[in-house]
Amino acid sequence: MYEIISLQDKNAGDTGFLVPIEEMLDIPFFIKRIYYIGGVSASARRGYHAHRNLEQVLICVIGSVKILLDDGNEKKVIELCDPFHALYIKPGLWREMYDFTSESVLLVLASEHYNEEDYIRNYSDFLEWKQGES
Ligand code: TYD
Repeated sequence: MYEIISLQDKNAGDTGFLVPIEEMLDIPFFIKRIYYIGGVSASARRGYHAHRNLEQVLICVIGSVKILLDDGNEKKVIELCDPFHALYIKPGLWREMYDFTSESVLLVLASEHYNEEDYIRNYSDFLEWKQGES
């Protein structure tokens, strides 16, 4: 359903960390889009959609957040709280994001440009689409 990719701190020493991410080397796709999410209140829940084709990598660079992933059969919750751990999400998974800490910044690397037609924003439509896939 997902993979955790370990990222490396390349800044040896005591001057903080530096984590490079190179497309097709550290992550398995070419990056067409980058965005980040922050300023989310503790009670807010985001996402509520799946993507038909989009691959994504999520990194909580500051703070922590929980990600619920659902393939239509099984649900998993992953807590992202480490800037050296990247969550690789394949297409076809319903996701919800919640329990953002106040300082959280969630960085997202995406394999395609923004395309609203790639979204499935209704859970029943998602389940129907999954059945058609299998
Ligand atoms: P959405 O993907 O629904 O956010 P989340 O999954 O975090 O709840 O996007 C929220 C809004 O931002 C929506 O109106 C679409 C817009 N948006 C863009 O314009 N470009 C983008 O790259 C993304 C991800 C969203």
